[in-house]
Amino acid sequence: MPTYGRLPVSFEQGEGAWLWDKNKKRYLDAVSGIAVCNLGHAHPAIHCAISEQSKKLLHTSNLYTISDQEKLASQLISKSGMDNAFFCNSGAEANEAALKIARLYGHQQGIDKPCVLVTEKSFHGRTLGTLSATGNKKIQEGFSPLLEGFIHQPFNDIHAIKNAIKQNNQIVAIFVEPIQGEGGVHIPSPDYLNQIREICDQNNLLMMLDEIQTGVGRTGKFLAYQHNNIVPDVCTLAKALGNGFPIGACLARGKAATLLTAGKHGSTFGGNPLACHTALAVLDTLDKENIIEQVASKGTQICEKLTQKLNGNKFVSNIRNKGLMIGIDLSQPCTQLVKKALENGLLINVTAEKTIRLLPPLIIDSEQIELLTDILAELIKEFTEQF
Ligand SMILES: Cc1ncc(COP(=O)(O)O)c(C=O)c1O
Repeated sequence: MPTYGRLPVSFEQGEGAWLWDKNKKRYLDAVSGIAVCNLGHAHPAIHCAISEQSKKLLHTSNLYTISDQEKLASQLISKSGMDNAFFCNSGAEANEAALKIARLYGHQQGIDKPCVLVTEKSFHGRTLGTLSATGNKKIQEGFSPLLEGFIHQPFNDIHAIKNAIKQNNQIVAIFVEPIQGEGGVHIPSPDYLNQIREICDQNNLLMMLDEIQTGVGRTGKFLAYQHNNIVPDVCTLAKALGNGFPIGACLARGKAATLLTAGKHGSTFGGNPLACHTALAVLDTLDKENIIEQVASKGTQICEKLTQKLNGNKFVSNIRNKGLMIGIDLSQPCTQLVKKALENGLLINVTAEKTIRLLPPLIIDSEQIELLTDILAELIKEFTEQF
């Protein structure tokens, strides 16, 4: 199906932050398969985990206990401060589980039409439930009737949340991304999540965080909410959890942790031995190689070098980051830069038309940072000279 506007390149091989196409041309990857390959490409530990486990056992189904699934759940629980985990295969599925938890929670409180407060410009996935939660009319276009039970409020606006709660007593949960990714790398005020936590506590609502893009070290902590010293009630993960092997997880704690009982939810593939063995290798590698500890300084390096090399270019209105989630705003639509960068051996992404988004692998090194910022600054310079 013509679902994607694909770029004219096909990669054959990867290693670390490098990719090679079928003509052996080399590219520096600053997208990581959209925040997935945080450990880079062809990491030996991941290759080894997949190869070892595939010799033993791929799949048995959730009719039986899966020991690596239990191990993975307990490691994620200890890393996140949550109580329970449900495993699935993608971000949208992890979010569906979260939304079902919110509805069960609402009904348990005697609310017959539970409503989840979500934000404008958010992105939560493409299934009908997550699409309805997503705050982007363009993405929703053509799919009505959307699911009811969502109320959209501006991102990073605590007053809007408070007002909405005052006016709507069916709201049972607040569901946000700690940093909006697809919407344009929107980083909220430092205490935004703390305030949401407080509102949820005061109003008996579930605080649910979509960490599908921000999770697994991307922002410099294992989970982005750990910058705020809070713990949500529900948190969803996917993307980098398998470094390219499909796996998603919905983590929950306290009152939210036990609502999905036997028969209420499920997945044939979710949490199978191969997926869980791979995710365990991801967590182990992040720890052994001290990868997350280096993310903040690498992010700062990229932004500082870019700022310096752009030399006050007046068409660049903002450069921001949290760890290695980086947004560069131009004053003009700049989607064509993606193709230009590709021609110059660099993979970048543009969201919200004017925001260059960089999501390099967390293992990017200083030489690669130098090269990335050299190529990108030069491309932006050439591109903005026409205005
Ligand atoms: C914040 C967020 N939530 C959910 C999703 C959907 O994940 P998936 O494409 O794995 O279904 C994405 C994907 O980009 C995302 O960035």
